[in-house]
Amino acid sequence: MTEKREILRVENLSVTIKNGSKRFSVLKDVSFVVCEGERWAIAGESGAGKSMTMKAMTALLPAGSTEYEGKILFRSDDGGWQDLLQMPYRSRRKFIAEQIAIIFQDSINALNPNERIIKQWGETVMLHRPDLSESERMEHLLEQMDIFGIRGGQETLQHFPDQLSGGMRQRIAIAMALESRARILIADEPTTSLDAISQRNTIEFIRRLLEERQWTLLFISHNLGILQYMCDHIIIMKDGCIVEQGETDELFYHGKEEYTRQLVAETMKIMGEDEVYHE
Ligand SMILES: Nc1ncnc2c1ncn2[C@@H]1O[C@H](COP(=O)(O)OP(=O)(O)OP(=O)(O)O)[C@@H](O)[C@H]1O
Ligand SMILES: [Mg+2]
Repeated sequence: MTEKREILRVENLSVTIKNGSKRFSVLKDVSFVVCEGERWAIAGESGAGKSMTMKAMTALLPAGSTEYEGKILFRSDDGGWQDLLQMPYRSRRKFIAEQIAIIFQDSINALNPNERIIKQWGETVMLHRPDLSESERMEHLLEQMDIFGIRGGQETLQHFPDQLSGGMRQRIAIAMALESRARILIADEPTTSLDAISQRNTIEFIRRLLEERQWTLLFISHNLGILQYMCDHIIIMKDGCIVEQGETDELFYHGKEEYTRQLVAETMKIMGEDEVYHE
């Protein structure tokens, strides 16, 4: 087996959000190390700090009201480490845009309401695949629409976002995010608003992409079945802290912390067997 290369190190990350004279400590001393090609899940009850962790890592928290402690280290192409928190704002944004593909729960909002789908999606493809001709690009779009269950072909592409249903917009936003050639995919509840079939297709497509491109994944979902299916490692969070982390199966079946065992038992009970993803 080839030796694994570390790609991301989060070291003693604490995040405090200021709101007037109030201060909220939303992340406390969070540390984990991710190797290239690994798939990490973050689980935990609502308010645990899962989205905060992802937002901190993608510089999405408002700069003026957020205080960070610790380090968020990414390995750059030349092998050196760069601390995201030490980068000037502009280079941080650029670095993230190049290195990380992001799908958030509210990724519908990522679409520009004033531009036709064909324009924004086409431009995204052009950015990542400048080698494609115009007809190849159209072929690619129609193919992707098929994969993500986006119906209506050319006609749908001519619409503006608000002429489409929420689910349709969500699928388009996911498909657009996945055009990226980044090395890391961060997905926060990407499929919650989709129907069961689209959810399954999207999960399958993401899994295939990860294998093809050897992407590294950070994935948040309340559905532990999906996390178990998608991810080889898992972090359990509660109240802004990491309760436990390790290999997914190990934690699922031999969790050391009472909280981990409770969370797994509860989720399995709610989901029922037929919702659990099996290979
Ligand atoms: N702007 C804010 N100001 C202060 N506290 C905030 C702010 N945004 C979020 N929080 C708090 O930070 C904590 C972590 O929130 P976070 O969104 O990371 O939870 P989560 O684990 O993603 O939950 P969910 O599963 O519901 O998405 C919560 O207690 C939340 O109330
Ligand atoms: Mg969240």
